[in-house]
Amino acid sequence: MNNVVLKYVIDASDFTRAGEASSDVKNKLKQMNLPPEVIRKVAIAMYEGEINMVIHANGGEITVEIAPEGIIMTLKDNGPGIKDIPTAMKEGYSTAPDNIRSLGFGAGMGLPNMKKYSDSIDVQSEVGVGTTVTMKVNIA
Ligand SMILES: Nc1ncnc2c1ncn2[C@@H]1O[C@H](COP(=O)(O)OP(=O)(O)OP(=O)(O)O)[C@@H](O)[C@H]1O
Ligand SMILES: [Mg+2]
Repeated sequence: MNNVVLKYVIDASDFTRAGEASSDVKNKLKQMNLPPEVIRKVAIAMYEGEINMVIHANGGEITVEIAPEGIIMTLKDNGPGIKDIPTAMKEGYSTAPDNIRSLGFGAGMGLPNMKKYSDSIDVQSEVGVGTTVTMKVNIA
């Protein structure tokens, strides 16, 4: 059987739709009867990445590849980029402005949780060009 590939365009202009892509992936993985723990890890890691694209990068594109050995998520944006990736990965670090914090974001826990809930994570970023985050969650 061929791997399943899902693609999502993440629109940052409508905040009420933030999280729709990760929720769609969660439903599709449930329909495929994947282990609940795998689904939970993918849903959390992808949700945090999707929200980051909305609040920090003006949207982007997410590709999810479902292979027998695991799920690979590629989140690509053309946002401002991340100057210091090791600092951005630290718990509590956030550049979210006050209006975003008032919506409940900006604890600086997104990237740490993406690292925690994925089995591997790679962050590539160039200031002024954009950011690509690749995460993998293994199946069994
Ligand atoms: N896609 C991105 N483009 C540009 N900057 C980003 C991106 N993702 C994360 N960042 C930067 O890394 C910081 C840390 O991200 P992280 O997700 O950990 O925290 P947060 O989004 O600020 O808050 P939280 O995720 O807890 O709501 C962000 O505040 C932002 O400066
Ligand atoms: Mg975040």
